[in-house]
Amino acid sequence: MTVAEAVPRMWVPMSSPSINDDDVAAVLEVLRTPSLSMGPQVRAFEVAVANYAGTAEAVAVNSGTSGLHLCLAAAGIGPGDEVVTTPFSFVASGNCALYQGATPVFADIDPLTLNIDPNEVEGRLTKRTGAIVPVDVFGQPAPIEDLREIADRHGLGLFQDACEAIGAERNGTRVGKSADAAVFAFYPNKQMTTGEGGIIVTDDGSFAGVLRSLANQGRDDAGTWMNHVRLGFNYRLDEMSAALGLSQLGRLDALLDRRAKVADWYNQRLSALTAVAVPFVAPETTRMSWFVYVVRLDERIDRAALMTALEEDGVATRPYFVPIHLQPLYRERFAYKPGDFPVTERIARTTLALPFFTDMTEDQVDYVCERLAKRIGRAVQTWATAP
Ligand SMILES: Cc1ncc(COP(=O)(O)O)c(C=O)c1O
Repeated sequence: MTVAEAVPRMWVPMSSPSINDDDVAAVLEVLRTPSLSMGPQVRAFEVAVANYAGTAEAVAVNSGTSGLHLCLAAAGIGPGDEVVTTPFSFVASGNCALYQGATPVFADIDPLTLNIDPNEVEGRLTKRTGAIVPVDVFGQPAPIEDLREIADRHGLGLFQDACEAIGAERNGTRVGKSADAAVFAFYPNKQMTTGEGGIIVTDDGSFAGVLRSLANQGRDDAGTWMNHVRLGFNYRLDEMSAALGLSQLGRLDALLDRRAKVADWYNQRLSALTAVAVPFVAPETTRMSWFVYVVRLDERIDRAALMTALEEDGVATRPYFVPIHLQPLYRERFAYKPGDFPVTERIARTTLALPFFTDMTEDQVDYVCERLAKRIGRAVQTWATAP
């Protein structure tokens, strides 16, 4: 290592929320009122998200995970039921079934879009299947038309884990309209944030009523304070978070456009690097909602060593995703092992998420790409000289 390399020229984080003065003012304004929970901001946020998604209803909750859980709870999924989802996702996509005492069943993915493969779904259905939970991986919509057709033919619920995909469009239709319900999430690394938070969108008014009751301790539809009609949870979003969400949603399209620009900068710089494949965007994806920027590395690259080297350069990276079925919890409970989902595992061994956020500068993208090229260049030289 040369002296110049010992101190990174810059530190580039994985993600960073885009917060402006309007966002700060919106939250402060709530703090000057007595309504910090169950007030007007949550309702206004729900109406605004439903309008944006083009659905009749939206129910705000305190995380994407609780939104997914509530969809399955409201659909009556329980012990003995199976829920088909993808192993190439964040663990919550499988856990939502476990919370209900149901069994997550995995279906392998399309190696290009990294989304669940409808043919694989079909092969995993049994008499016990109650619902399908497709995931819009990294902000690219899942093949919802085919999944809708399968769900309808078998009488199954279709609950879209759109936690990574607010604003994405497939064949001109915005994510949220085509499933029985879809869930968006607003953790600070997401396209827009509420701190912690999530929201469920649906066209079904009575389903939304059950979701709202379940999120609010099982209170009746009128929200009567001491009248609990079902076993509910406290999954409520608070007013400060909803105010931040409303403010962010007001400029969501601008946030998504800026993220698309950052993705373009990456694509331009990385397309010449033969050891790296840039993200594939399917022709059906008429709008990508860039959540993260994930490249695929040549299989000969030692990813762990590359990540450590980039860390030394001040560049944060993540191995998105570690497959759900290979998480210790799932191996232990269901005896999953390497080889069970070969496409997912092949992809997951080679993916690398690079720093990616709305306000990322071209200079930061340049730096990440320059360091990546340099570090990969060294790896390539090692293969060339290997015996
Ligand atoms: C695909 C997917 N599902 C579910 C979640 C859970 O969302 P939250 O962290 O808000 O609970 C996430 C969050 O990262 C996600 O990426």
